[in-house]
Amino acid sequence: MPTRWFRLEKYPLSHNPLIFSGNSNRALAEEIAKRLKLHVGKSLVDKFKNEETRVEIGENVRGSEVFVIQSICKSADGRIGVNDALMELLLMIDALRRASAARITAVIPYYGYAKQDKKTKGREPISAKVVANLLKVSGVKRLVTMDLHAAQIQGFFDLPVDNLVAMPVLCNYLKENKLCKDRVVIVSPDAGGVHRAELFAKRLESSLAIVFKRRPEPDVSEVTDIVGDVKGKIAVVVDDMISTGGTLAKAAEAIKARGATQVYTVATHGIFAGDAMQVLEDSAIERVIVTNTIPFAAGGSHTKFVQLSIAQTFADTISRITTNRSVSALFDGEEGSAPPEAGPNESAAALEAATA
Ligand code: R5P
Repeated sequence: MPTRWFRLEKYPLSHNPLIFSGNSNRALAEEIAKRLKLHVGKSLVDKFKNEETRVEIGENVRGSEVFVIQSICKSADGRIGVNDALMELLLMIDALRRASAARITAVIPYYGYAKQDKKTKGREPISAKVVANLLKVSGVKRLVTMDLHAAQIQGFFDLPVDNLVAMPVLCNYLKENKLCKDRVVIVSPDAGGVHRAELFAKRLESSLAIVFKRRPEPDVSEVTDIVGDVKGKIAVVVDDMISTGGTLAKAAEAIKARGATQVYTVATHGIFAGDAMQVLEDSAIERVIVTNTIPFAAGGSHTKFVQLSIAQTFADTISRITTNRSVSALFDGEEGSAPPEAGPNESAAALEAATA
């Protein structure tokens, strides 16, 4: 049976969902709500004078389906740190649960603490699991997130997890800018990212190359080898996140030294820790393309950065969850491509499983 696609307005939300947001990425929450023709619910999310997080929900939520949107990241103005963001999220969920919300979904566009998803040596924590435990105890009933650093983090939850991918949005940008087909080689910046890079290469009908890197110490990277032909091509390096910028800056240098004409980079999550933006600005990279799962830090004059919105991806997903429609069906067409009858922004969401 052919897949049927519904426009949002023809298929109203059936359970009057409510959307709330903390302070880490409120602009994204507002954009998602706007696309759903909803508003972000009233709440006070602040700090007591002693710096403990203070939360008060300002609307009746009894019996409601509730979505709390909060990336585990620093806010644009730097006032809310990563740990504050997590605490706000947990306390909001607790408040909503105690106020008798029927079902609470945590929408975490960027799931922080994901890098520590296993013990690599003795006496280390598995931080991603600790975050999952905290969310569960606070009362979350399902999770919607995007491009988890490691897909197996889904298994840290005994709840439904929708791990969306930003690939359709990123690939559309690359295609619109003619960064595809023969003139381009898609590059994975490390061995761990090869599967992701392969999906991009297939979608963009381009070839593939792999950079091998090592980390002599945390947050420092060195290129050890490159496999694949980059000579005379535009290289597009694909990663899930940019933290210090070292991985991509070093990869770009090595790729250029092997004869690539230009280097572009795309990543879902632009963390840009410390002076990362300056590192990338000073690098051999032509353009750094990320999404708005994490807000850009306020101020600064950086010329190389492009931020694409993934709000519609989350809006589509929330719409489908509230009406008990398949989320993976958003991807049932052709590897996440927009169905012909959908609006321009209506079908960018995709489940990672569906792309595998
Ligand atoms: C590594 O596994 C990740 O996919 C990224 O390559 C890494 O987190 C980027 O970090 P940085 O920007 O600090 O090099």
